[in-house]
Amino acid sequence: MPTTPTTIAIVSQKGGSGKTTLAVNLATRAAAAKHESCVVDTDPQATAAAWSDWRGDFLPVVVTAPPARLGRTIESAKKNGVDFVVIDTPPHADAAAREAIKAADIVLIPTKPRAFDLAALEPIADLVNYAKTPAFVVLNAVPTGATKLANEAKKAAKDIGLKVCPVTLGERADFHRSSAKGETAGELAPDGKASKEVDKLWKWLHKMLKKAND
Ligand SMILES: Nc1ncnc2c1ncn2[C@@H]1O[C@H](COP(=O)(O)OP(=O)(O)OP(=O)(O)O)[C@@H](O)[C@H]1O
Ligand SMILES: [Mg+2]
Repeated sequence: MPTTPTTIAIVSQKGGSGKTTLAVNLATRAAAAKHESCVVDTDPQATAAAWSDWRGDFLPVVVTAPPARLGRTIESAKKNGVDFVVIDTPPHADAAAREAIKAADIVLIPTKPRAFDLAALEPIADLVNYAKTPAFVVLNAVPTGATKLANEAKKAAKDIGLKVCPVTLGERADFHRSSAKGETAGELAPDGKASKEVDKLWKWLHKMLKKAND
């Protein structure tokens, strides 16, 4: 069911697939596009919240919420003028992923192009198929020049019935260097490849959301 504000869930059962990186980069890109954007961090590790502490008083707002309070948290964000929510979720947590998928207009599933990571897509495929929320695998941390690996990963995702986002994120130092400073790739190196990839992803997402609302 479409929600207001626009809500993006970032889910993946595999630890370290890039959920938090994607969440903070997208929410910050949304803020740069004049959205009142907010990250709802449902991960008990609270990594996005720690990033926000390092960042200080800059957008996006990051709030923590246990999965059971996700709906209420989004409601109160809406009352505070938030129009774009990115939900960051924990790994190995079916219930949290299910709640985030239920609340979302679009689900993004960051995945490294490696066998163990791809194997972890199956439970998520079941969850998104059940919820009928549009969902896309986003290949993340793809090594430079690894076209064959990326194509194999795309095929593996499609074979289990998942759609694949046409924008891929490479393995880029700008992502981890920026996070450690409470920044994003676009802020650390605006003309860098990581920044351009986030930009492309943002534009693609915008198009998909427009299509979904037409
Ligand atoms: N595209 C990338 N290129 C380089 N490093 C990356 C990339 N994406 C993520 N990383 C790094 O990989 C590590 C894990 O990323 P991140 O914390 O975003 O994953 P996660 O899925 O949120 O992990 P968890 O499941 O523990 O919540 C971090 O150090 C992050 O900086
Ligand atoms: Mg995380």
